[in-house]
Amino acid sequence: MKYVIANWKMYQGTRGGAALVRAMLRAYRGKTDLPEVVVCPGFLAIGELQKVLSRSRVKLGAQDAFWEDDGAHTGSVGPSMLKDAGCEYVILGHSERRAEFGETNEMVSKKVGAALRASLRVVLCVGADIEGPLRGSLEGVLRKDVGRLLVVYEPEGAISSQGRGAEDLEKVLEAFAKIRAVLKDLFNGAVSVPLLYGGSVDGENAYTYLREDAIDGVLVGSASVKIHHITDIIGAALRAMNPRGL
Ligand code: 13P
Repeated sequence: MKYVIANWKMYQGTRGGAALVRAMLRAYRGKTDLPEVVVCPGFLAIGELQKVLSRSRVKLGAQDAFWEDDGAHTGSVGPSMLKDAGCEYVILGHSERRAEFGETNEMVSKKVGAALRASLRVVLCVGADIEGPLRGSLEGVLRKDVGRLLVVYEPEGAISSQGRGAEDLEKVLEAFAKIRAVLKDLFNGAVSVPLLYGGSVDGENAYTYLREDAIDGVLVGSASVKIHHITDIIGAALRAMNPRGL
């Protein structure tokens, strides 16, 4: 199974977002062997997209969640609220939040714990510095919950470069080997955690990553709100899953 996770960041609102996912669904109508496609819009669009996606196999995710589930936290959105609104996934630890909001590994680990308790699947991002953030962000996670975890390698320098600065495949594979080693150490043995690459993935370069057995998917930012790119990226995942089919 390959994953295509769309991180819409602040690129798309409710009306445009609904039109975009409708176009995406039309492009792959009737296909049975789709990759796991997850759309992560801004909070405000989640309700409307839940309606649009409810009868499709495309999943809904959020771009962040707070570490408390309820209480006096003005402006925050807790993981159970996301679950209640129809989200199955949440992106946590993104480098933009670490840089813009000063999110530390300790804060990310609290968010990871809360999201797992709410039965969300956690899409945990780490940047070029892998070991410290990965260990710190997974502090306290139990082996029994590892099945709901995905890890994304997103080197900061490769983000938002519109394809020019996407990381070399070899470097991605080296980073994945490091991530696997840390996970193995943390959880006392090999664990089956999907590993994704993110950073300037688009319709042109997606297959380079997705065709690798070691790469379970991609986390896509700006290209995920462009219909031709996102359909090409999903097409690349399909081709990687069925090399003889398409
Ligand atoms: P871009 O695909 O726009 O480089 O963003 C990558 C990213 O940060 C996805 O989470």
